[in-house]
Amino acid sequence: MNASQSSPPFSEAALQQVERIFQRYPADRRQSAVMPLLHLAQKEFGGWLSQESMDYVAALVGIAPIRVYEVATFYTMYNLKPVGKYHVQVCTNISCWLCDSDAIAKTLQNKLRLSFGESSGDGRFTLTEVECLGACVNAPMLQINDDYYENLTPESVAKIIDQLP
Ligand code: FES
Repeated sequence: MNASQSSPPFSEAALQQVERIFQRYPADRRQSAVMPLLHLAQKEFGGWLSQESMDYVAALVGIAPIRVYEVATFYTMYNLKPVGKYHVQVCTNISCWLCDSDAIAKTLQNKLRLSFGESSGDGRFTLTEVECLGACVNAPMLQINDDYYENLTPESVAKIIDQLP
């Protein structure tokens, strides 16, 4: 399957990035590029991966779409449905939980008026509960889009939300 026959297409800048990603791998190991390409596709297509987007990545790599779906559905960093402008991901795993991530979660749920897994009606926020994000040393923490916020308190997390543009 030729990727150019699929839609949606990447922008020119993204296609150049695709070439750079492929250069990291031997020609007969292009399938190893699936994860960075899915990350790129998520950025290109509004922060989430539709089936069409995953099919596009499969076509770029030259593998069966099912192999891309397997990766995209395994890792929580890939969003399989639309997310808000700010995707707030709260870690509630052991280190964060021991440092009172419950209070962080409660503050966010009250402030955003969202439960985990919900998005605000205005498309501004999605609130997600996630497993360890690898920043345990500075627990409790959360991720908003590509940024980590660490050593949180209920006060600091409220301020972070208030200061988002
Ligand atoms: S447990 Fe929260 S970052 Fe590791």
